[in-house]
Amino acid sequence: MVQRQSSLPLSAGVNKKGHLIIGGCDTVDLANEYDTPLYLLDEFTLRSKCQEFKAEFSQRYADTTVIYASKAFLNGAMAVILREEGLGLDVVSAGELEIAKSVDFPMDMVYFHGNNKSAEELNMAIKYHIGRIVVDSQDELEMLAAMAEETGHIPDIMLRITPGVDAHTHEHITTGIIGSKFGIPLFAADELVKKAMSAPSLNLVGLHFHIGSLIAEAQPYQEAIEIVLDFAADMKQKHGFVLEELNIGGGFGVQYITGETVPQVSIFAEAVVSRLISRCRRLELSLPMLTIEPGRAIVAQAGVALYKVGVIKDIPGIKRYVSVDGGMADNIRPALYGSPYEAFVANKMLEEEAEQITIAGRFCESGDILVKDINLPPITRSDIIAIPVCGAYNLSLQSNYNASLNPAVLLVKEGKERLIRRRQTYEDLTGCDLL
Ligand SMILES: Cc1ncc(COP(=O)(O)O)c(C=O)c1O
Repeated sequence: MVQRQSSLPLSAGVNKKGHLIIGGCDTVDLANEYDTPLYLLDEFTLRSKCQEFKAEFSQRYADTTVIYASKAFLNGAMAVILREEGLGLDVVSAGELEIAKSVDFPMDMVYFHGNNKSAEELNMAIKYHIGRIVVDSQDELEMLAAMAEETGHIPDIMLRITPGVDAHTHEHITTGIIGSKFGIPLFAADELVKKAMSAPSLNLVGLHFHIGSLIAEAQPYQEAIEIVLDFAADMKQKHGFVLEELNIGGGFGVQYITGETVPQVSIFAEAVVSRLISRCRRLELSLPMLTIEPGRAIVAQAGVALYKVGVIKDIPGIKRYVSVDGGMADNIRPALYGSPYEAFVANKMLEEEAEQITIAGRFCESGDILVKDINLPPITRSDIIAIPVCGAYNLSLQSNYNASLNPAVLLVKEGKERLIRRRQTYEDLTGCDLL
């Protein structure tokens, strides 16, 4: 009987057949009906996470805005849920902005990020009157000021500062250190604040930082808050700058595997809010609006990937490989970051985990290993493997490697499934090619 439940969606259970249930649906039935690889999103977990972030921060600091970082996963149905839950959207491309627009997402709740926004993207941001444009460089500031002047609309902007804080996470997802490709290094930021304040076509409302992703402790946020508030106080004294808004980005860690310890949202909220208030008091700054941008922590746990077992290969004394019909094309994270995952055999949830295996993807890379050395019940061909915590940065980083088809996505809730993204077809694959 499987005891590990911690990383499954909140609605997970096991039915009499010994099948994994998510959102009241039998995952084995869904895998058979919709084919695999298949992604499930548990609506209850998704909405609960939205509500948890809103509640934990705003009960401590009423003037909080929660913006979901679309890059973790976005499609139309997801954007509708976020809108219904009252979250805003952080977008980084015209594509993400268009998805938001396609479901009438309130444009004043959209924040535009990115280190290389194109003229077309900035034009869209101005035209749609989006909530905030988060300026990442001097080049962008100058381009945006000129473009805004032509249109006559004065966008609200923030400056993204790199505070020089190490978030103690994987080097590919740390962004707060000086030398990062993102943001304006603190030592160069004074000049840009002055420039932004003096640009009549722009309205500088505040400062932003994002120190990285999958952060497992609150202390780097506190450090960054102090540094950026100290800078704001300096700017107030030098240029009369008023910090109306402080955006501390996202990056809140989640638990992927048993034994990992990640602070609860309430711990992050307490640490952030207490340090924000105490530092503002000490610096005699008025309390700004606080914005947070969780992506992974909203959607990761809601997602479960389902695969079908194919070839099982024994290398005696070394490894037993269980190959599945997906892998790095739908989940690049293990190959990209060495990210660990757990797995379950969805049709054998009541059986003893008696066998150590490694779950291999089907793609032509030795690095395409989804889960290393995990104990599971004895596995045979056609069993259904469920990998939890697959809601964030799987589908948004997916590829068509080996000309594979991107999987379907189902939203599950109270025993009903809803197809929110169909599986790609071979026509989708060949449709862009010209002979
Ligand atoms: C500016 C910004 N905000 C928020 C996020 C979301 O991070 P996470 O999904 O780790 O919460 C990112 C991720 O890269 C980001 O770049």
